Amino acid sequence: MRSDWVLPICTGHERLKDENGDKAHPTQKPESLLHRVLIGSTNPGDVVLDPFFGTGTTGAVAKMLGREFIGIEREESYRKVAEKRISKVRKFDREALEVSASKRAEPRVPFGQLVERGMLRPGEELYSMNQRHKAKVRADGTLVGDNVKGSIHQVGAHLENAPSCNGWTYWCFKREGKTVPIDVLRQQIRAEMHN
Ligand SMILES: C[S@@+](CC[C@H](N)C(=O)[O-])C[C@H]1O[C@@H](n2cnc3c(N)ncnc32)[C@H](O)[C@@H]1O
Repeated sequence: MRSDWVLPICTGHERLKDENGDKAHPTQKPESLLHRVLIGSTNPGDVVLDPFFGTGTTGAVAKMLGREFIGIEREESYRKVAEKRISKVRKFDREALEVSASKRAEPRVPFGQLVERGMLRPGEELYSMNQRHKAKVRADGTLVGDNVKGSIHQVGAHLENAPSCNGWTYWCFKREGKTVPIDVLRQQIRAEMHN
């Protein structure tokens, strides 16, 4: 996961309002933020503590994701908003939660491991899935392209002028005339880990 996150602020139907139609809390966080934090750092059944609970965004998302939670909030009016909000939340079904858990459990494979193991050679060219860009593999597991160098994700994002890019699904290599996504090599390493 990247260390800089681009997420929409909390607006629209998600933004809680009081009886006058004003914001129920000045700094209500977006559920997408808590979704990412909880998926990335907890498993179903874990207990999450939020000592600055506000409108209970943490509790609402924890409940959806099958986590337990403890919320602490000093303002009674916010506690009431949070309680009402969370009472309406429904947990995702078990199957959907299992998918999230198993994805997180997949072992991390650094791109450099593909180079270390000789699956890709330093100097070899990778091609973007849309065939518009190419970059060269370096011995240290980074890429170098037109006026850019960095990780598979950084170089992909730069070339696409995008805030982020999943380099595993963006880059391909060529073998015997075929274009193959580098993710195939990652899956190969993961399959060996499971044996
Ligand atoms: C940034 S807001 C949290 C917003 C929340 N994440 C949400 O999405 O609604 C911080 C909250 O912490 C509460 N707070 C601040 N100091 C506190 C304390 N010492 N004990 C309990 N709650 C506190 C404030 O009342 C405020 O609602």
